[in-house]
Amino acid sequence: TVAMVDAAKRLAARAAVDEYVKNGQKVGIGSGSTIKFAVERIAERTKDESLNVVCVPTSFQARELILSSGLVLESLDTTPVLDVAIDGADEVDKDFVLIKGGGGCLTQEKIVAAAAKKFIVIADYRKDSTLLGEQYKKGIPVEVIPMARVPIKRKIESNFGGKAELRMAINKAGPVVTDNGNFILDWKFDKVHKWSEVHKEIKLMPGVVETGLFVDMTNAVFFGLEDGSV
Ligand code: A5P
Repeated sequence: TVAMVDAAKRLAARAAVDEYVKNGQKVGIGSGSTIKFAVERIAERTKDESLNVVCVPTSFQARELILSSGLVLESLDTTPVLDVAIDGADEVDKDFVLIKGGGGCLTQEKIVAAAAKKFIVIADYRKDSTLLGEQYKKGIPVEVIPMARVPIKRKIESNFGGKAELRMAINKAGPVVTDNGNFILDWKFDKVHKWSEVHKEIKLMPGVVETGLFVDMTNAVFFGLEDGSV
């Protein structure tokens, strides 16, 4: 149920914040629904323990969340090195390869994660998988410059198989436009790949801004489980 999933997200988020966020730190704030619980916990600790941190967002949504929670908003311009970044994921495989970008924020999320000394993922039990694609069925998001979307779609499909579909908006006639003014192709792959290699090859296609494959970036994953443990 929604309540159970939310409880799991909350548990994971709070455990991660309590273990990894310390006074005086610079913290990257991810995007999505799970990160809300982490920000809630940071705000709570700011009140209860006079925790003093500055936050760098990974999206419009994260920026709004930081501001509405009364936390200190910074950017990579002023704060280019972060102690820790915390973020959700759409799927995590056994090697800690992630699919991210279900919410369209993959590029800024990866920039912020790469700026952090530690990158911590928080997720509910549905995101835990052995092989990518077992749990998350919407494919790997690839952010592209709009005029390059058709050539990139064709290259991905002919080089790697599957289907790369332009993500369409809900409540608007047309494509999803990212926080960076770009489009997203959701690549529905049809077999297991070497993700590090696939990521590099796609990333080198002209017009690709970033892929939602996060390889070798994650230091720890907190899964909230159905039984209330983490
Ligand atoms: C945003 O683009 C995504 O990468 C999110 O981090 C991811 O979708 C996790 O979101 P939830 O916490 O809502 O599952």
